[in-house]
Amino acid sequence: METVLSGIRSTGNLHIGNYFGALRNFIRMQEENQCYFFIADYHSLTTHPTPENLRGSVKNILVEYLACGLDPKKCTLYIQSDVPEVLELYLFLNMNAYLGELERCTSFKDKVRQQPDNVNAGLLTYPTLMAADILLHRADKVPVGKDQEQHLELTRVFANRFNRMYKVNYFKEPQAYNFGENLIKIPGLDGSLKMGKSEGNAIYLADDPATVRKKVMRAKTDQGPTQEHQEKSQEIQNLFTIMQQVSTPDTCAFFEDAYNRCSIRYGDMKKQLAEDLVAFCAPIRERILALSGEEKYLEEVMEEGAEKARANARKTIRDVREIIGFRK
Ligand code: TRP
Repeated sequence: METVLSGIRSTGNLHIGNYFGALRNFIRMQEENQCYFFIADYHSLTTHPTPENLRGSVKNILVEYLACGLDPKKCTLYIQSDVPEVLELYLFLNMNAYLGELERCTSFKDKVRQQPDNVNAGLLTYPTLMAADILLHRADKVPVGKDQEQHLELTRVFANRFNRMYKVNYFKEPQAYNFGENLIKIPGLDGSLKMGKSEGNAIYLADDPATVRKKVMRAKTDQGPTQEHQEKSQEIQNLFTIMQQVSTPDTCAFFEDAYNRCSIRYGDMKKQLAEDLVAFCAPIRERILALSGEEKYLEEVMEEGAEKARANARKTIRDVREIIGFRK
């Protein structure tokens, strides 16, 4: 059985782009693989060094993961900071991580541009901590988006370097988990190609129906088709793409046909899309609301996750200490 690992930063709530992108696949993967899913709260300090509500943000993601169907009995669901063993591996990896390769990371260069007054060492070594997350559990597969591929490549570099330097064959190279056609990219409601928190165009799983309706009704459209079977503009294509995920095939076909015959009324399409989105989110939102009050259960989930993750982490750390030459 393959070990799959995925981390998510603890800033912000989950949106339907996260759901159709990765989360839906995680639910499937937990049945077939040994899965570690964790919330990367240490990582969040690289951009938010004095978080206002660290525990609250972590809880939000945990609740939303559970509400979507991650099952703590089937996977190991944990909070990064509950497994401080990762920090020892982070330290060891940092000793053999070079300034040049860290500085060359696109993510680092982006952050330098975004937060020029806070170019901290944690930001620079973000990829080493991520490599430690992955190597700590000796994961085979890591589902990553395009923006994380470079980090995964560095993880392989660090793993191989460790093996070479200490003359062992301990870490294996983690590979990207490719969702293939199961990877659905949800575009924004503003005509952009990506739904995202920072893009400000997202529909959140926890949004109430009125908010969902308002967001959809404000979605960008165009002047409407003037010729039959006219090619769609990006903003209209986006509405159809989202509709394909949440509406019935009949509904999609109806609006497709109306578009092709130039009789489409975008207002009607948006109303339908909004209702189908509301219906899709409703059960998830209900579970989010219910779980949010289940403090004791959430504590148990975190505790159980931490224990399972730590058991595995301790073993890796013991091995690594011995390989380098420390007292076990
Ligand atoms: N860097 C990832 C992101 O921003 C989050 C993350 C942290 C992660 N550690 C990880 C993802 C380990 C996969 C594996 O999305």
